[in-house]
Amino acid sequence: MAIVAPSFLSANFLSLETDCKMVNESQADWVHLDVMDGRFVPNITFGPMIIDFIRKATPKICDVHLMIVEPEKYVEDFKKAGADILTVHLEACTHLHRNIEQIKSLGMQAGVALNPHTPVEALKEVLHDIDVVLIMSVNPGFGGQKFIPNTLNKIATLRRMIDEKGLAAKIEIDGGVTLQNAPDIIKAGAHVLVAGNTVFKSKDPKDTIAQLKKIV
Ligand code: DX5
Ligand code: ZN
Repeated sequence: MAIVAPSFLSANFLSLETDCKMVNESQADWVHLDVMDGRFVPNITFGPMIIDFIRKATPKICDVHLMIVEPEKYVEDFKKAGADILTVHLEACTHLHRNIEQIKSLGMQAGVALNPHTPVEALKEVLHDIDVVLIMSVNPGFGGQKFIPNTLNKIATLRRMIDEKGLAAKIEIDGGVTLQNAPDIIKAGAHVLVAGNTVFKSKDPKDTIAQLKKIV
């Protein structure tokens, strides 16, 4: 069964409490929270303060996706805000290994995200150190974009790398996930489906989450 992580980027920020309640009552496993700085990506969203509010409104696992430069400066702030999983972009980290250790030393699970152009092989030397690999299936920055088909090859390659070594890293897919393409994404070897628009813009978000959850 897929791990489902609704992305709050597509939520209604005027009624976050309502959206948290919907997610709490749903079969969602994680809440996916997108932090953007207007430098690593051409968009700005929210930071630790909003995450702190959401954390207090949900018992679900807080999966924080940092799309920011110099993430090491804020790792402690996101721990304090309640992140369970903290994901940094490989492209934003000169000292990726150090950043992973920093995240884990604070008791969070460490994730590494890859932009669409970054090969999964770039993670070879740290794969055994990380809990989650987030493969971006759109260029990061905005919700509601179209899934990049080559992502399916990346998932399959990464899944082979993980299985061959018997590692525990989970593969998370983020961007353009729909009810239509989710079965192929899971078949290719992914464990976690992030879904923003597909969940929050649907008529019945709880049911959409249930349908994503059913995919095996
Ligand atoms: C985009 C974010 C995604 C975004 C996905 O940069 O990382 O998490 O919310 O949104 P959808 O599912 O609408 O593509
Ligand atoms: Zn994301």
